[in-house]
Formats: sequence, C-alpha cells, structure tokens
Amino acid sequence: MNILFATSEVYPLVKTGGLADVSASLPRALLQLKQDIRIVLPAYQTVLEQAVAAKKVAECHHYGFDIDILQTLLPGTRVKVLMVDCPALFDRPGNPYLNAIGDEWQDNPLRFALFNQVVVDIALNRLVYDWSVDLVHCNDWQTGLTPALLSLFEHRPATLFSIHNLAYQGIYAKQAFFDLGLPEYLWSMHGLEFHDLFSFIKGGLNFADRISTVSPSYAEEIQTAEYGYGLEDLLHHRKADLSGILNGIDTEVWNPGTDKLITHQYNRRSLAKKSENKRALQQRLDLPVDAHIPVFGLISRLVEQKGIDLILAALAEIIKRPLQLVFLGSGQSHYEQQLMDWARIHPDKLAVFLGYDEALAHQIEAGSDFFLMPSLFEPCGLNQFYSLRYGTLPVVTAVGGLADSVIDYTGQSGAASGNGFVLAEKTSDALMTTMERALAVYHQPQIWQRLQLNAMAQDHSWKSSAKEYLQLYQMVLDQHPKVTV
Ligand code: ADP
Ligand code: GLC
Repeated sequence: MNILFATSEVYPLVKTGGLADVSASLPRALLQLKQDIRIVLPAYQTVLEQAVAAKKVAECHHYGFDIDILQTLLPGTRVKVLMVDCPALFDRPGNPYLNAIGDEWQDNPLRFALFNQVVVDIALNRLVYDWSVDLVHCNDWQTGLTPALLSLFEHRPATLFSIHNLAYQGIYAKQAFFDLGLPEYLWSMHGLEFHDLFSFIKGGLNFADRISTVSPSYAEEIQTAEYGYGLEDLLHHRKADLSGILNGIDTEVWNPGTDKLITHQYNRRSLAKKSENKRALQQRLDLPVDAHIPVFGLISRLVEQKGIDLILAALAEIIKRPLQLVFLGSGQSHYEQQLMDWARIHPDKLAVFLGYDEALAHQIEAGSDFFLMPSLFEPCGLNQFYSLRYGTLPVVTAVGGLADSVIDYTGQSGAASGNGFVLAEKTSDALMTTMERALAVYHQPQIWQRLQLNAMAQDHSWKSSAKEYLQLYQMVLDQHPKVTV
C-alpha cells in the first residue's frame, strides 16, 4: 500500500507532544510491515536544521507562495519524509504553533491551509513527484482540510483522520475561511463551520472515509458531552466509522536495557540497578540522596488536561509524606510559577525543572519509583507506557488510554496482574488516597517488585497496533474501491 502520513510534527525533527512520537514510530512500524509509507510535514526551521541531505523533488504554488517539496529520511530510519518548504510561513524559530510570547502565530489558518493544499497535490499525484497514493492518513486539526478538499474529487485516495486530542480543533474566524478561497459549499454545519466559526478539525471529522483515535476508551468518551468539546453529536453520528487503536511506543528509544541517556542500564533481571539511577537523579536535582525514600516523577506539558490542578490542590498534604517529587514540564505560566514556589519552600522534597529536556525525561523514568499522571482526560498518553517499561509504577486517573493500559493494584489478590495505581475519581482527595496506597506498597518490597516485573513484562511496542492500523487501512480501501487514483 502507498500511504501518505500527514502530520504537523515528527520526532526528532520537531516535537511538542506525543503526536511527534507517534508520527515517527507508527510509520516506522508500518515500513517494517512492508508498506510504502511517507511522512509529509511543514519544513519548520528546526526541521530544516536537522534534515540530512534533503533534496528537492517537486515544487508548487499556493496563495501566492512558491513552495518546494524536499525529501529526506527520518533520522536513523529508512522512512521517507517530504517537507513542505515555504520559508515565509514556516522558517521561523521556536514552536510550530506559537510565537515567542506563547500566542498563536497570527497566520496559522494560512500556514496550515497551505500545508493541506500541498498534501492534496501529493495525494492526487499532481506534481512531478510521481507517486500514486492509496490512502492519506491525516493527524489532528492541522491536517483536517485534506479530507474536505479531497472529497471534491471523484478519483482520489482513501482518507483516514486520526484524533490525537480533541481539545485542539483549529478554530478561526469566519473571515479566515473566505480569505483562503475555500469552496463556498464547505461553509455549512456539515462542512467546516462550527458555531459560525471556521473549524479545521471538522474537515477531518465530516469528510474522512474513516476516523480513528488513539485508545478504545477515548473513542467512547468523545461521544459524550464531558469529553466531546461540542463535537460529541457529530462523532456519535459517525460511530460506525470510528475506531480506537492504542498507541505503541518506540521500544528502541525507550529501553532501560540500552538507554544511553541514563547512567545505569537495567532490565527485569537486573532491576536492582534501577536504584543507581535514582541516586543519579537525586544528585542531579540536588535532592537528599536516599535509596529508601520513594520518588514520584512527572513529565508533562503543564496544561489543565494533565491534572496539574489536582496535584497543586493536594500538594500541601503530599509534601508532608516521606517522599520526593521530581517534576519536569513546561506550559502555562501560572502552573510553572506555582510549582516553582513550592519547590523553593521545600527544596528537600520537590525538584521542579521547567523546560523541555529529553535526557532528563529518560532519567526521571529510570530514577523514579512512581509516575504521576492524574490527567482529566488523556486520549492515549505515552508516559505511562514509558513508565511501565522502566518499572516505574504509574499513578493515573481512569480516563482514555490510561484506563486502557494501567491495571490497578487493589490488594494481595491483584498482585498477579496489577501494574500501577488508578484513582477512583478525578479529585485531589482521590489523588492523595491513591498515593497513600502506592506508598503502602512501596514498603512491601515483595509486592512492589512483583508489580514492577508485571509492568516491565508487558509489550507496548507497535507490533500489534501497527497491524490494527494496517487492517483499518485495508478496510477503508475495501469500502471505497472506486476512490484509488
Ligand atoms: P501529550 O501529547 O498530551 O503531551 P503524551 O503522553 O502522549 O502527552 O506525550 C508527551 C510526550 O512529550 C512524551 O514523550 C513526554 O516524555 C514528552 N514530554 C512532555 N513534556 C516534556 C518535557 N518538559 N521534557 C521532555 N519531554 C517531555
Ligand atoms: C495527544 C494526546 C496524548 C496522545 C498523543 C499521541 O497529544 O494528548 O494522550 O498520547 O496525542 O497520540
């Protein structure tokens, strides 16, 4: 199958969250399954800086801009990456969506509309780049216009739209829709209009042949008002076309047995060495070095989704317990500020590192005993998988992919299968009582170790999920036999 994988970020070229990890590891797994899969993404400055031996394979013109299509390989892999090079729109420093002060780039509708127009050019094989696409796999709102624009053509590839996070929809003023010269009939509630605003994501939800999201639980949740962000009725309406496939992880990047970013590699048979990583972490973050004190890690975007409010509300109590907390994150400034204030008052208990740090993320996974992830919603989540693999027991809420991957240890009988701790509800009280449960287990070394071994034994590679995607691709193609170009 020839699959065009359209995404706005891919690790290691550009990453703001889990989408980048999935956009790198899923195509890689599909390539191993002998599919011809090629990634297409905007050529942001950071992408151009890291792309090796990029060569121009085509050019096109949209909205008055001359655009080059460059091709490279995803670093360390054989996956082809097509980069949409339009310097005026993408060759900017920093974050792909936000400017230096954290506001959306003013011209985001134009930037991502242009990106989608180029994806459509490639999908329809309109460029000198001669490759006939069977299926376009679109990811999140930044690629939502592609299924809508492709729907105008009788002979077109099949389309799958994956929701990684429904909270981000790409909503702009009505005028932006008309400024972009999009076909007028798309301006309807069955098209791209959302309460008189212009919605990118609706293009994917209304026009893709099939929709998927990144866990079975989230596929159910988004059909309800609590998690649907106003799109629950539309998603419920398309229920028959909607599936949930749990993300996998890159087991080479996240492997405690070979991880070069941690000081002491370990596996299930040498679990004792994990404590040397704990010592290294405590030293690095200026916490008292103590092998016996339980360490709770957190690595997160600091936004409401991640349950930072639950942590802040419980922190006065948490900090009284015999434990250490190690937080790595960046995001909304009021969260950053409050966490830093707490760390200043309790430097022996809480270490907060603001910013983005790949190496420290690995060191926290390796050096912590528990991992905090009390998300209010979590489409899939990747850090709980990394934690399981590193024998770091996750403490999570029962939402989305967390509910689908963490099995609560509830007592002696649960030790055979338990691999973490699940909050009974999304409250700070529940967080506190669940952390107490975790602490109690920490002091029962036999059970604790059993849970760690359970966690580390699980397979979270892409092996089975990539096959599920392949089946889904096949299903879309079978259902739409006439659409191949
Ligand atoms: P989301 O995509 O909603 O942020 P995920 O759990 O799917 O959540 O993915 C988050 C990814 O980003 C993980 O790979 C995590 O390790 C990484 N990450 C988040 N914040 C940081 C940070 N401050 N430093 C390093 N890595 C981070
Ligand atoms: C989103 C979600 C996260 C998911 C990731 C990759 O960023 O918030 O839960 O793991 O996408 O699918």
